[in-house]
Amino acid sequence: MKNILIAGGTGLIGKKLVALLTENGHKVSVLSRSPKGPNEFLWDPKNTIIDETILSSVDVLINLSGAGIADKRWTKSRKIELHDSRIKTNRFLFSLTNKMPNLSQFICSSGINCYGYEDSVIIHKESDPYGNDYLSQLVKQWEESANLFKTKCNVVTVRTAVVLDSEGGALKKMIPAIKIGLGSPLGSGKQDVPWIHITDLIRVFEHAIEKNLDGSYNAIADFTPNKAFNQKLAKILNKSFWAPNVPSFILKLVLGEMSIILLEGVKASHDKLSSTGFEFKFKTIDVALRDVLKS
Ligand SMILES: NC(=O)c1ccc[n+]([C@@H]2O[C@H](COP(=O)([O-])OP(=O)(O)OC[C@H]3O[C@@H](n4cnc5c(N)ncnc54)[C@H](OP(=O)(O)O)[C@@H]3O)[C@@H](O)[C@H]2O)c1
Repeated sequence: MKNILIAGGTGLIGKKLVALLTENGHKVSVLSRSPKGPNEFLWDPKNTIIDETILSSVDVLINLSGAGIADKRWTKSRKIELHDSRIKTNRFLFSLTNKMPNLSQFICSSGINCYGYEDSVIIHKESDPYGNDYLSQLVKQWEESANLFKTKCNVVTVRTAVVLDSEGGALKKMIPAIKIGLGSPLGSGKQDVPWIHITDLIRVFEHAIEKNLDGSYNAIADFTPNKAFNQKLAKILNKSFWAPNVPSFILKLVLGEMSIILLEGVKASHDKLSSTGFEFKFKTIDVALRDVLKS
């Protein structure tokens, strides 16, 4: 049994991770800017405020904080928020490590888009360099701030693919158009969508704790071309799939720089994670989507 503190544990991934770790016997607490439940404690990372009472017992610290990457256009002020909610929260947590004498591991969320979009052929391994686009460089800074903890404990960065969950994230944004029969491929439709089922993702975090892992790991089950992904989604929802591709220029016009996450693909390998003994429950897109959408 470990004392686990999860910053940003109130979101899509956090809620299910808290439930899994609690079910498996750990004592889990959450840091939130607006705590509600009995296991939630106040922090306000922007103003470096935190309820310190929780810190002395922490064995494992997890940071899932981050303003949503795909929630708003990447204006100058939004980019500051995307940066600060990840990098400044890591730095603030690091500044508190002397109050956490039992800390043995820090686990930080990260993104599979760290490798950039320059080469659509390579299946990226963790040893590959960061890309040069805005998002890759944001993830680079995110991981650098996580790696500050290396002087204190093991550090895991979970390079997360698109999380498949019906309650939020990418699918929740895609399903309404498909439900009214307007699902269509984006851009060329050939770009690969990297994905992982929510159940497997939270199992990755649990596995990292159980095995006391250290280093970066690609949390990706597989990747599927955008057109095939949308077609499968429509089929499972019993909807027709006839609409023409949404042209790239329209997405660029509407979303600006953020359109890169829809128009460009990422291929990455989970071999490093598998070599630590992790087994995916949801290995194919059909099985994963059917499970997520069964309700
Ligand atoms: N979902 C995905 O597909 C996906 C894929 C790759 C990576 N990730 C990363 O995984 C992490 C968790 O993802 P998620 O889907 O669970 O996200 P989420 O549902 O948006 O939750 C993130 C949490 O971060 C906190 N937060 C939001 N804005 C913040 C800000 N400006 N400053 C400080 N804290 C803030 C919120 O907690 P409070 O409001 O309680 O403080 C929120 O519950 C994120 O860093 C995300 O970028 C997610």
